[in-house]
Amino acid sequence: MASEPRDATLPATMSAMLLTGHGDIDQLVYRDYVPVPRPGPGEVLVRVTATAKNNTDRKAREGLYPVKKGQVTSFAMGGEPTLTFPRIQGADIAGRVAAVGEGVDPARIGERGLLDFNLYADARRDINLTPDYYGHGADGGFAEYVAVPADQFHHVPNPALADAELAALGMCSYQTAYHMMTSARVSAGERILVSGASGGVGTALIQLCRIVGAIPYAVSQPEKADALKALGAEAVIDRGDLGSFVARVLEATGGAPIDAVMDLVGGEMTDLFIDTMIHDMKARTTYPRLSIAGASGGNISEILWTRIYLYQVQIFGVSHGTREEAEQLVEWIRSGELKPVLHAAFRLSELHAAERYFVSRGSNFLGKIVIVPDAQWDEHGAPFALATPQAERPS
Ligand SMILES: NC(=O)c1ccc[n+]([C@@H]2O[C@H](COP(=O)([O-])OP(=O)(O)OC[C@H]3O[C@@H](n4cnc5c(N)ncnc54)[C@H](OP(=O)(O)O)[C@@H]3O)[C@@H](O)[C@H]2O)c1
Repeated sequence: MASEPRDATLPATMSAMLLTGHGDIDQLVYRDYVPVPRPGPGEVLVRVTATAKNNTDRKAREGLYPVKKGQVTSFAMGGEPTLTFPRIQGADIAGRVAAVGEGVDPARIGERGLLDFNLYADARRDINLTPDYYGHGADGGFAEYVAVPADQFHHVPNPALADAELAALGMCSYQTAYHMMTSARVSAGERILVSGASGGVGTALIQLCRIVGAIPYAVSQPEKADALKALGAEAVIDRGDLGSFVARVLEATGGAPIDAVMDLVGGEMTDLFIDTMIHDMKARTTYPRLSIAGASGGNISEILWTRIYLYQVQIFGVSHGTREEAEQLVEWIRSGELKPVLHAAFRLSELHAAERYFVSRGSNFLGKIVIVPDAQWDEHGAPFALATPQAERPS
């Protein structure tokens, strides 16, 4: 018999997508009759309505987080690997409080919210040294229910924001983007180059630059230029022709240097990104700054160290962010300053199809994919299904 306050309809078992080991998508197995977790002290049990997909789901599954060459592993910043199997993935969770654990106000039952996805190692609000997250070191949202800390499940009532849209504003993208900017001290009036601009983190960066008064220049593909400009990009630089890339960036800025680069692509592009900052040091008023949080274009970049230290390029490695930053982002969501960029919703039972779509997406793709439990599909997923034209979608 349950002792925690809960809503009367809570079942004993649920459907969930279990990751059973490192490897291909066949390691993801859809199961019924998975026990519904119980909220511990200080936790809430969330009935999941939508969970956004992130690159990290695939990378963790495939073991693509080496810190030494040749490793096949997921990351283990605190020492021991925390990704054990079976694991329910899915970090950016929106849903409703269905039960509360000891010490949590039962009045929260029914509350709609968004998870700050971090498994914080301690209570510090301004630093997060061992990033780990729900869906990796603990079960996440590719299920009907998940138990999470009450103080990290942030109330977002906004009726104009659908649950799928709220999940698309999830912290894996937005907190990472914001921490890239705070690390590099991005400030009002600065010209910021954003690579991987059409993705989850990139679309977050463009919006966040505008919120703090900075001027984002997006690196992407021509087909996405109109949508990226509508989101706030000052100009969109085609990533196609590397030979003319730096000249085209400087043409877009009117010859002024880029103040800081937010790099999600890496590979052979990062050296060119540095050129956009250092081509005329006399025209600068601050040190060149490079924030790195991803490597969609390749995990190895060849850069001469002399270019880094002679030009005093400050480099920031970024993973996730802090409690303070998550709370600031939730404020911007509540105030409507951050807008969701939601590409499509898929049913939880069709996660394999969503994974394939995510990897081989076409040139019209912008923003996020969300996964909706089958039992919630009609209300929370169907309006955002791929077949539903953008024009007929809510909000
Ligand atoms: N450090 C962290 O805490 C953290 C958190 C979240 C994500 N990440 C990492 O950050 C990166 C971006 O994440 P995301 O969720 O925004 O990914 P995403 O939604 O998959 O977007 C990545 C974007 O990068 C561009 N891109 C892909 N392949 C490329 C290539 N070969 N060369 C140049 N550009 C390429 C594409 O944009 P265009 O088509 O517009 O060029 C794509 O939309 C990933 O590497 C992810 O693993 C890290």
